[in-house]
Amino acid sequence: MALRTILEYPDPRLRTKAQPVTDFGAELGRLVDDLLDTMYAAPGIGLAATQVDVHQRVIVADVSAERDQPLVLINPQLLSREGVNSVEEGCLSVPDIFEEVERALRVRVRAQDRAGKVFERDFDEILGVCVQHEMDHLEGKLFVDYLSDLRRERIRKKLEKERKERSARTRQSAGARAY
Ligand code: NI
Repeated sequence: MALRTILEYPDPRLRTKAQPVTDFGAELGRLVDDLLDTMYAAPGIGLAATQVDVHQRVIVADVSAERDQPLVLINPQLLSREGVNSVEEGCLSVPDIFEEVERALRVRVRAQDRAGKVFERDFDEILGVCVQHEMDHLEGKLFVDYLSDLRRERIRKKLEKERKERSARTRQSAGARAY
């Protein structure tokens, strides 16, 4: 098990457009396992490779209460979308911020599994929202992009302030140990 570091907004690396996966070998298997481990440990219901600074088209999700139904989508493509669903979303890369975002109610997606096998599936409710949110990450898009400029700017400032406070605390405790 290996946990990867999750990039946080406004890290510019989150804006990278991911490349299609072409090699379904051991390295991809390790990435998928690490994404699942990192998502479960966070804890979160979805994670895109972009968020751990790997710019390949891989996302994982699990919205089950028992956390035992991992979903892996490689090279996901949106085939169709219908209806409108507006729910409060959060993101592991935008910690502690929750905002309502408008999404499709149901999406049909074609993707590959970790062995490269192609499949199609419909996603709705919270898993549908999660899949749309994670597919946005692969395009370098974040849920805060759907908010007003003013709201997004406030979120950015809040997170930068918290990050500065966190690193000041880390320096302090490192100093305390260094005597
Ligand atoms: Ni996210």
